[in-house]
Amino acid sequence: MLHSALINVMVKAARHAGRNLKRDLGEIEHLQVSMKGPADFVSLADKRAEEMLYTDLTKARPGYGFIGEEGGSREGNDKSHTWIVDPLDGTTNFLHGIPQFAISIALQREDTIIAGVIYNPANEELYLAERGKGAFLNDQRLRVAGRRKLSDCVVACGLPHIGRGDHDLSRREMTEIQTRVAGLRRFGAASLDMAFVAAGRLDGYWERNLKAWDMAAGQIIVREAGGIVSGIAGDDDALKTGNVICGNEHIHAELVKILKPLGD
Ligand code: IPD
Ligand code: CA
Ligand code: CA
Repeated sequence: MLHSALINVMVKAARHAGRNLKRDLGEIEHLQVSMKGPADFVSLADKRAEEMLYTDLTKARPGYGFIGEEGGSREGNDKSHTWIVDPLDGTTNFLHGIPQFAISIALQREDTIIAGVIYNPANEELYLAERGKGAFLNDQRLRVAGRRKLSDCVVACGLPHIGRGDHDLSRREMTEIQTRVAGLRRFGAASLDMAFVAAGRLDGYWERNLKAWDMAAGQIIVREAGGIVSGIAGDDDALKTGNVICGNEHIHAELVKILKPLGD
């Protein structure tokens, strides 16, 4: 499959950093039993992955800005292009040796995300999309699922962990959705939750209190797979609000109808 030079740059950077993360995942098993535990090791792996991504992406596209979870914002001379990067999405999974984590890279031009790559080095699944050119999983074209009835759907959500988010609201949301769907899931890596919606594995996904790097690549991949992505209000921008709902147009609308009033 032939992709643009831009996508090739993003894929190469993701695979390069991914090789290291995969090696680090192997180390975690040994560290689990050590006294110190693996937390420091993981935060180091995380930072190292971000530096690798910064180096590779900046080398290929000098001057682009860079927003990463670990290193914050780094301005470039080219004010219209910014990389938005999560070097390790699904840190808690990674820390526990659960192979559901990913590198997420998006490119923003002015206010629009124009390309996204999400790569899980543990199973080598690579999702990508470029504006107007469709979404792919390892070169296979993606399309969101076509289900229209919530009762047939498998939907994923986030769960705010200790000290974060509104736990009461989260429980109310789950109660409402749980009673209406075929299955509710919590996988623990927002970028992959969105990638799974694009791949039609999940019919829908919602979560609150995310950051742009959790969602930017996922947003374009879902949209290029024919899905809808918004904030909880249904017509707002997930990247601005930090809250996201996605799915095909029917399931997206159903989820908005249920979730929007709960947060108001
Ligand atoms: C987290 C994951 C998780 C979501 C959290 C995010 P991190 O990102 O995407 O699924 O529920 O809110 O912060 O911290 O693992 O990069
Ligand atoms: Ca993240
Ligand atoms: Ca992260």
